[in-house]
Amino acid sequence: MNKTFYITTPIYYANDKPHIGHAYTSTVSDMIARFMRLDGYQVKFLSGTDEHGQKVQKSAEKAGIKPEEFVTLVSQNFRDMHALLDISNDDFIRTTQKRHINAAQYLWKLLEERGQIYLGKYAGWYALRDEAFYAESELINGKAPTGADVEWVEEESYFFKLSEWQEPLLKYYEANPDFIRPTSRRNEVIKFVERGLKDLSISRTTFSWGIPVPNNPNHVMYVWFDALTNYISAIGYPETDNTNFMSFWPADLHMVGKDIVRFHAVYWPAMLMAASLRPPRSIFAHGFWTHAGQKMSKSLNNGVDPIALVEEYGVDQVRYFLTREVVFGADGDYSKEAFISRVNSNLANDLGNLVQRVMSMIDKNCDGKIPSYQAFTEEDEHLLQSALELVVLLRPIIETQDLHRYGEVIWGVIGDANRYIDREAPWVLKKVDRERMETVLYVLAEVMRYIGILIQPIMPRAASKMLDLLAVSPNKRDFQHLTVIDALKPGFILPKPYPLFPRIQTETTDIAS
Ligand code: MSP
Repeated sequence: MNKTFYITTPIYYANDKPHIGHAYTSTVSDMIARFMRLDGYQVKFLSGTDEHGQKVQKSAEKAGIKPEEFVTLVSQNFRDMHALLDISNDDFIRTTQKRHINAAQYLWKLLEERGQIYLGKYAGWYALRDEAFYAESELINGKAPTGADVEWVEEESYFFKLSEWQEPLLKYYEANPDFIRPTSRRNEVIKFVERGLKDLSISRTTFSWGIPVPNNPNHVMYVWFDALTNYISAIGYPETDNTNFMSFWPADLHMVGKDIVRFHAVYWPAMLMAASLRPPRSIFAHGFWTHAGQKMSKSLNNGVDPIALVEEYGVDQVRYFLTREVVFGADGDYSKEAFISRVNSNLANDLGNLVQRVMSMIDKNCDGKIPSYQAFTEEDEHLLQSALELVVLLRPIIETQDLHRYGEVIWGVIGDANRYIDREAPWVLKKVDRERMETVLYVLAEVMRYIGILIQPIMPRAASKMLDLLAVSPNKRDFQHLTVIDALKPGFILPKPYPLFPRIQTETTDIAS
């Protein structure tokens, strides 16, 4: 059987339009999914929308639309954002779909039969914005630790016996040191669980927009119980013996933001263990974006709109910035200046100029064909070797989600190629040693083939243009072709070159060096 890989984004609340945080989670997940596909894995990449709960119901009321219609409209915005960002998800789940409702109700009944769910009374704090319960001891100045407003809730509620899972969870964390990344988040989770777990309230009675609790129409499921189940309902749960489920569960990676680690790393594995299902293999919690140093918020009206950004600068530029700008796992800051500087220096200058210089020299001096080559010098071999070795360096980067290093490592070779072209000066060789000029241009074109193949996960469009310029056949673009056997063949006719990354011009900014 093929090697498989299952990666998920969180399902996005269908209560508002997409913002840069959503674009970020989807883009980094897409980068990993594309890498794994190119590396020969059968990949399932899931995203979707979280459509139930009080927060969504309130937003629908505010918009004056029935929740059923409201979520359909909002969910479409997320699919549109994905299309615009070239997100290659294989499935998009909506929690209002039948397949999901069935799975969530099945899981509920199973846990109830096993004595893991009981009816009680909840009295405590609830933050609508986070859709989360908080203990008194967690509040800071009367607010949730996230800064969200809390309200006192007292109602009949079903509970999940989370308290019984403290030891098994701690054992699982210990046996699987890479279950939660980065390490800082892992430590946080372990400390939280070590302090002791209380049973979790998993139903609500004061509103109706949710999945009905089986056999008790007064209750709807707590939105997180419903939402987390999406990761298994999308692969056919409760039919655990179908090929889809057997190939893809446990998920290899749940990509989440740091604000929702507790749900994924504590509640979710406990729910799964209680149902005798295996917990996911890993969870990565990425950081948050701020805008010019400030938290993005409705009141400041300073949200960064990913759609406007793509429309203004281009999809590959946005994907490159998001995956390269910050140490993956840490918080990052978006500013127009940082964006323009990153794009102009790495894309227009480093990569764009390299491609443009090489392709136009080949066009003018080699008849628009892949140049022929003579014996390689040590310098040539060195550069070719570093391109050949790239994939070996990139695999562990993807495996450990050290994502910003991906661009860094490739740009290391792009820097080498730029220094090589300056040193070899093919424009001088043109007058004195045409054979050597052709060899130098061949080496550069071949290095660009590797780079073109390897940047596909970050910039699928630019990569495909670059590989088109080199006349690399579409069926020779995955990682098994990163070998000398598939090296460019001299004499192959190439299309007319054109610039790949225009410089972003601004009145005041021309910061890039
Ligand atoms: N519906 C839940 C997830 C359920 S998964 C079973 C949810 N949705 S969300 O729409 O609020 O958030 C989705 C993702 O966006 C989360 O991973 C969150 O961390 C991320 N971000 C929200 N704001 C962000 C930033 N400012 N920066 C980076 N990511 C942020 O939570």
